[in-house]
Amino acid sequence: MKKLSGGFILVSIFVLLLLRCGMVENPLAEKSLPSPFSRNVSGYPRWVAARGDFPSVHNPRNGIDMASTGSLISKLSSPRNLSFEEQLSLNTWRLMVHFVSHSKGLPQAVDAVNEAVTAWENLMMSFDDEKLARPCNGSKSKRLKEGQCPYFALRMNASEFSDGDFRLKVPCGMVQGSSLTVIGSPDGILGNFRIDLLGAALSAEEDPPIILHYNVRLNGDKITDGPVIVQNTWTLAHDWGPEERCPSQYSENNKKVDELEQCSEVKVRNDSLIFAAKLSSSEEEIAEPRRHFPFRQGYLAIATLRIGAEGFHMSVNGKHLTSFAFRENLEPWLVNEARIWGDLKLLSVLGSGLPTSEYSEHVTDLGLLKSAPLPILRGVNLFIGVFSTANNFKRRMSVRRTWMQYHAVRSGNVAVRFFVGLHKSQLVNEELWNEARTYGDIQLMPFVDYYRLITLKTAAICTYAANVTSAKYVMKTDDDAFVRVDEVLSTLNSTNVTHGLLYGRINYNDKPNRDPNSKWYISQEEWPGEAYPPWAHGPGYVVSRDIAKAVYKQVKRGSLKMFQLEDVAMGIWTDDMKKRGMDVKYVSDDRVQIEGCEAGYVVAHYQQPREMLCLWQKLENTNQATCCTE
Ligand SMILES: *[C@@H]1O[C@H](CO)[C@@H](O)[C@H](O)[C@H]1NC(C)=O
Ligand SMILES: *[C@@H]1O[C@H](CO)[C@@H](O)[C@H](O)[C@H]1NC(C)=O
Ligand SMILES: *[C@@H]1O[C@H](CO)[C@@H](O)[C@H](O)[C@H]1NC(C)=O
Ligand SMILES: *[C@@H]1O[C@H](CO)[C@@H](O)[C@H](O)[C@H]1NC(C)=O
Ligand SMILES: *[C@@H]1O[C@H](CO)[C@@H](O)[C@H](O)[C@H]1NC(C)=O
Ligand SMILES: *[C@@H]1O[C@H](CO)[C@@H](O)[C@H](O)[C@H]1NC(C)=O
Ligand SMILES: *[C@@H]1O[C@H](CO)[C@@H](O)[C@H](O)[C@H]1NC(C)=O
Ligand SMILES: *[C@@H]1O[C@H](CO)[C@@H](O)[C@H](O)[C@H]1NC(C)=O
Repeated sequence: MKKLSGGFILVSIFVLLLLRCGMVENPLAEKSLPSPFSRNVSGYPRWVAARGDFPSVHNPRNGIDMASTGSLISKLSSPRNLSFEEQLSLNTWRLMVHFVSHSKGLPQAVDAVNEAVTAWENLMMSFDDEKLARPCNGSKSKRLKEGQCPYFALRMNASEFSDGDFRLKVPCGMVQGSSLTVIGSPDGILGNFRIDLLGAALSAEEDPPIILHYNVRLNGDKITDGPVIVQNTWTLAHDWGPEERCPSQYSENNKKVDELEQCSEVKVRNDSLIFAAKLSSSEEEIAEPRRHFPFRQGYLAIATLRIGAEGFHMSVNGKHLTSFAFRENLEPWLVNEARIWGDLKLLSVLGSGLPTSEYSEHVTDLGLLKSAPLPILRGVNLFIGVFSTANNFKRRMSVRRTWMQYHAVRSGNVAVRFFVGLHKSQLVNEELWNEARTYGDIQLMPFVDYYRLITLKTAAICTYAANVTSAKYVMKTDDDAFVRVDEVLSTLNSTNVTHGLLYGRINYNDKPNRDPNSKWYISQEEWPGEAYPPWAHGPGYVVSRDIAKAVYKQVKRGSLKMFQLEDVAMGIWTDDMKKRGMDVKYVSDDRVQIEGCEAGYVVAHYQQPREMLCLWQKLENTNQATCCTE
């Protein structure tokens, strides 16, 4: 059976390739498409907070930016000679571009759109060159062949290290699981050194943001006598953030990041002390292990900085030492360069687990992984929008290879699309664009991805589902979630609710976090109420078409209220519809696993690509939803 369909697929690929080349060579095919963004910008409604319970956040720069929005949009919309398939990945872009650049409720959006303008123009320029040498021409352009994101980067050349200021390019950012290993020994007079992870600077004159500043001071500083590690961030707009020190001045203030302590106790037994104690049998020396600092002058240290889900984790000589939670707008995918400088004699620097995409010519099952264009699949029952960020190539591949292989998806009953913002790195954007063209399942967002903007993606999913598909149900999930599509379909069928439905792991009567130190802090201004209306957790929820459509209408009018937690936002929107008379039904399902995986899951969250493949194999082999514990 599989062999037979293989032949068919080969033929299909051939036909598709022919079609694609035909499209490109036939300028009429492009010209007949309407110019995507020719609407009248100044006539577009301004941001309206519907009932005053969402006071717009006043950004002093809004005034200026609003005035330039017109030119900004025209830059994002400048008509290009894009093929039909290429245009498809911009479907949501067209529908969202006005809304996003007017999102006053998310002050960052304007900056993110501005950055996207630069990124987009650069990308399109590079593809104007590349167009002359498209795949159907026989060979890819030289630049694309050479300029792939590297999986690892190793430097061991002593002469590169000689001046005490070493830089390692990380051209495609970092993702969860990436790491930077630095091997060297503190030397010099003070033995103080820094490891900085730098983002990309927008212009050549500007200093890039410091996404992580890791400063080791062997002899302390003004605040601390003994050796200390100071971690921080820096941006041009906000300068240095609050310092985090290890050992901390406030011992009670030891929060956890990814289940790891911010400062691990740096106590290590001194083997020679134990040995000495054994000889002299003096007990007290063993009872009180000396505080040991892992970096010491003249001693080799192997320091590994690893990217977790919530923050950076440093371990030295194999032991966890410190953790540092990601800060707003300073996410690891934005890392562009590592800089190591100061009194450290470097032996080698290694970046590994870096994000890299698979070459499509090496993908043997391309036909199975490609998505059919949606206009053909107008009759979909369920549309699934997956949140993803540009350099998470691996996660998207693992979704394509696993739950996108459900018969329901392959047959077109269910459609899946990734919603991905642009990246600041040109290399990443080029690979993303190639990926979009190869697999046909990416919807590009007209902004650079920042965590704070994710609600815009939720709005985009509803917009796309309502405008482009005919789906009865619309689901939102993440690229590290495994969705049992067949189970979702049968559950939706058995609930027998086709209107006003919010399905998922529902949280009733949840209260906003009012701790200003928390990552999830919500100010009175953002949400004045005591509690939120019922909402469904982000890793996997479903709304019926009428809800998605109502969201889409508000996007079109520019009246959709923004709230930074996207899943709560969906709850708020649904609640508003309820207040306006919609008959809303909440259906809660505990099988939506938001914290990981448990047997019998419908959705399992926090699954790494390898675990996704393992879950899929288990389902195929045993037909049971069991987990892959390590
Ligand atoms: C755009 O809208 C403005 C104000 O609504 C109007 O004055 C102008 O004529 C419109 N331009 C076009 C090209 O429709
Ligand atoms: C689009 O293609 C046509 C003919 O191939 C060319 O004349 C025109 O300059 C191109 N436009 C852009 C914006 O690249
Ligand atoms: C392929 O592209 C090159 C430019 O890189 C061009 O000179 C050549 O004519 C193209 N060949 C075909 C068959 O289109
Ligand atoms: C080491 O780096 C120096 C200076 O950057 C360079 O001249 C030399 O060729 C490099 N050696 C090797 C083996 O890469
Ligand atoms: C262990 O103790 C001995 C004797 O006090 C000392 O010389 C040595 O430096 C200590 N080693 C470490 C790692 O602290
Ligand atoms: C989708 O959006 C386009 C452009 O705004 C509009 O012309 C079209 O009517 C919309 N279709 C639906 C079904 O909403
Ligand atoms: C499903 O709902 C419809 C109307 O809401 C009702 O007529 C029908 O009997 C229900 N079917 C089942 C199987 O509950
Ligand atoms: C559930 O499935 C049955 C049989 O396939 C179908 O007739 C019915 O319309 C479905 N119900 C819903 C709510 O989709």
